Amino acid sequence: MEKTFLMVKPDGVQRNLVGEMVSRFERKGFKLVGAKLMQMSDDMAKTHYDEHQDKPFYGELVEFITSGPVFAMVWEGENVIAIARDMMGKTNPLEAAPGTIRGDYGMTVGKNIIHGSDSPESAEKEINLFFQDNEIKTYSKQD
Ligand code: CMP
Repeated sequence: MEKTFLMVKPDGVQRNLVGEMVSRFERKGFKLVGAKLMQMSDDMAKTHYDEHQDKPFYGELVEFITSGPVFAMVWEGENVIAIARDMMGKTNPLEAAPGTIRGDYGMTVGKNIIHGSDSPESAEKEINLFFQDNEIKTYSKQD
């Protein structure tokens, strides 16, 4: 079954939106198989965002994501990568549709509440960066 990596960013944690984020994906029907509140190190942030290292906002991005705890999650389900991206909405909250997470809660392109993997390759890389194998759980979900 497909898995994706989702992370409530420091702004989402500080605004008490962790429960709301978990609830949205649970109610959609996805299965939570890993989760932890954690502080990202500088090195980890740089690895996570290495594809953006040449962008002008890279320094700001690393500084923000390490500015406070994040809530890292692994979710499982059919087409979870693409559907979670749709539920998050466009990266820039100004362009994100109402009803999406960024449309409902995002304030700026940097402080946009949540990160989600954009492809199977990035999901695998990000899950392995944030989680040990024994932190991903297997159980039967009731529909
Ligand atoms: P995320 O999905 O975590 O992946 C890369 C992040 O870069 C993105 O969300 C945005 O928060 C951030 N980002 C994109 N464009 C800008 C920008 N112009 N200024 C600051 N941050 C940006």
